[in-house]
Amino acid sequence: MNSLEGRVAFVTGASRGIGAAVARTLASAGARVGLASRSGDELDLDGGVGVRCDVRDADSLEGAAAEVAERLGGIDIAVVNAGVGAYGPFLDLPFEHLEEMIDVNVKGAIYTVRATLPYLLESPAPDLVTIASEAGRRGLPLEAVYCASKFAQVGLTAALDHELRERGVRCTNVCPGGVATDFAMGRGRTPDMPQLAGMMEPQDVADVVLFVVTRPRTHRILEVAFRPVTESSWG
Ligand SMILES: NC(=O)c1ccc[n+]([C@@H]2O[C@H](COP(=O)([O-])OP(=O)(O)OC[C@H]3O[C@@H](n4cnc5c(N)ncnc54)[C@H](OP(=O)(O)O)[C@@H]3O)[C@@H](O)[C@H]2O)c1
Repeated sequence: MNSLEGRVAFVTGASRGIGAAVARTLASAGARVGLASRSGDELDLDGGVGVRCDVRDADSLEGAAAEVAERLGGIDIAVVNAGVGAYGPFLDLPFEHLEEMIDVNVKGAIYTVRATLPYLLESPAPDLVTIASEAGRRGLPLEAVYCASKFAQVGLTAALDHELRERGVRCTNVCPGGVATDFAMGRGRTPDMPQLAGMMEPQDVADVVLFVVTRPRTHRILEVAFRPVTESSWG
C-alpha cells in the first residue's frame, strides 16, 4: 500500500528542510523525484533529478517541470513546498520581505500548479499536495503577511479540489505548526522566542505527505492540520 514504485514526484524547495525530507521519503518509498530549487541539489537520491528553478518565475517552473517529466517519465505527484517567511509588527515589515512572501508563497504556488498540472492530468494516479501551514488556517500574531500568503495557498488548493476531483487529481493541504528548519528561525525572530521551543521535525511532515499520497484511490484527504504539543490549541 505504501509503495510509490512507478510514480514520479516533483517537489519544490527540495534543497533543504521539509522539502528535502519529503523528497527523501518519497524516494525511499520507490518514487523517482524531481528536486526543484534555486540551488537544484541532487540530494544523493537514487533516481533523483535536481533542477534549478526560481518559483517566482513561471517560465523557470515550466522548464523545470518539463525537464523532470522528460527525464523521469511524467509527473504523478506535485508537492508545492518552496516558501519564505518574515515576522514582526505589520508596519515594520520591509517591502522587500512582504513582496518576497507574496511572490514565492502565492505566485510560486500558482505557477507550480500551472507548470505541473498538464502532467498530473495525464497520470493514472495524480496527487497535488501543498505544504501550507497552521498560518493558513488561523491568524497568528506578528505574521499578518505570511498568514495572508498561506491562506492564499489553502484557498488555491481547496478550490482546485472542486475543479480537479472529477478529473482524478487529489488535492491536499498539509498544514503543519512549527517545524525546526532554517525557515522556522525566520526574519524577525530570535532564538529565545517561545514559538521556537519543541518544534516538530521535517520528517514528521514528510511522513504525513507519504500517508496522503499512498491512500487508496477511493478517497482523498483534503487537509491535514497538526501541531507540536507545545503549541496552543486555540483556533
Ligand atoms: N518550518 C516551519 O515552521 C513551517 C511550518 C509550516 C509550514 N512551513 C512551510 O513549509 C515550506 C518549507 O519550509 P521549510 O521550513 O522547509 O523552509 P527552508 O528550510 O527555509 O527551505 C525552503 C526551501 O524553499 C526553497 N526556496 C525558497 N525560495 C525559493 C524560490 N524563490 N524558488 C525556488 N525555491 C525556493 C529553498 O531552496 P533554495 O534556497 O535552494 O532555492 C529551500 O529548499 C514553506 O512553504 C513553509 O511556509 C514551514
